Amino acid sequence: MSNILKSLLVGTALTAVTAAHATELEVTHWWTSGGEAAAVSKFAEAWNATGNTWVDGAIAGSGDTARPIIISRILGGDPMAATQLNHGRQAQELIEEGLLLDLTDVAEAGGWADLVNPSSLLDACTFEGKIYCVPVNIHSAQWIWLSHDAYEKAGLEVPSDWNEFAASAAALQDAGTLPLAMGQQGWQQNIAFDAITLAVAGLDAWKEVRINKNADAVRGPEFTAAFEAAAKARALAAESNVQDWNQATNMVITGQAGAQIMGDWAQGEFSLAGQVEGTDYSCLPGLGLNPVLDTGGDAFYFPVNGDADITAAQKELAAVLISPDVQVSFNLAKGSLPVRGDIDMSSANGCMQKGLQILADGGVLPSTDISFSQDTTLQLEDLQAQFWTSDMSAADAQEAYADIIEDAD
Ligand code: GAL
Repeated sequence: MSNILKSLLVGTALTAVTAAHATELEVTHWWTSGGEAAAVSKFAEAWNATGNTWVDGAIAGSGDTARPIIISRILGGDPMAATQLNHGRQAQELIEEGLLLDLTDVAEAGGWADLVNPSSLLDACTFEGKIYCVPVNIHSAQWIWLSHDAYEKAGLEVPSDWNEFAASAAALQDAGTLPLAMGQQGWQQNIAFDAITLAVAGLDAWKEVRINKNADAVRGPEFTAAFEAAAKARALAAESNVQDWNQATNMVITGQAGAQIMGDWAQGEFSLAGQVEGTDYSCLPGLGLNPVLDTGGDAFYFPVNGDADITAAQKELAAVLISPDVQVSFNLAKGSLPVRGDIDMSSANGCMQKGLQILADGGVLPSTDISFSQDTTLQLEDLQAQFWTSDMSAADAQEAYADIIEDAD
């Protein structure tokens, strides 16, 4: 047989093998801002590099918009092959209904129990001893982002904590700058309130409420101070007439606003805008007063599929998403911390390095997605949406908050 014929036969065989394993997976997520899209493209590139195909199912809007769509598709028998959700209790009903793929064999083969750090992330994927999601990052919500341009224009030093920020607000306003940018959605206002409570009420009171669901702690003096601080912050954000979180981040990037309280996914927007931490913007975890971080973040879940090839591809994708190189490329773009401690993140910027140090020092706490049910979280978000867009008194908001925590599950 001629060499040409041999190489043709080998080539055909290889193509056939690749084609046999070339599986298209529809993947849903809500990462539609510039920074988020840049990050999720790292996942898509890695999956396509295996010879398979990532069919992107981006859903516009926030997680509060996308989650009901995702969950109803799965419950309704029209599942995607993989989906982002926050790790924690969001998928609990789907797991209980047997609708999500058990990934325990993938986790054991990949040694996830030894490499996922903190191990609470894997606990948040575990139900009755089986693992149903692959955690892909750690996002924390308790950050404030500050514009150096805005402070230069106001003739002020960039604040080093929440109290200095609050004291700088009048000068920002005098310079024609919005002190606090905020999108008009309850989950964003809830993040702002939660970060203010961590900074003002303190870690012990925050834990009593956020972890122990202690309604009396909500009525205590620490949370009274936090609600009063939130009422003052409300005035500083009153002119923030944008909807989406990344629009508010853009106001900081362009110096139209002095600051934004938002999760560390905001870094993806600064990076995309070519802004440099320490030169163009600063970030303060725990608003500079209590540098601890909640281990929120994202994980991928895989609806059960009757097709063995799809199931095999779903498991292959789970392994790809937590692999070392993909963890580095995705998290650097996303502005989040990786879920494994055995990779080189030396190229991470100063904000991520602050987060990595807090993680290394053990300054981490469970996120709301892990502590509270979706129902409780949505009640808290609705209350915040009402509080931040009305003249509801701090005392009334505090009592309403306590009532929600009273019944929290
Ligand atoms: C969070 C998610 C982040 C981020 C943010 C804004 O729930 O964990 O990855 O993108 O929503 O969309």
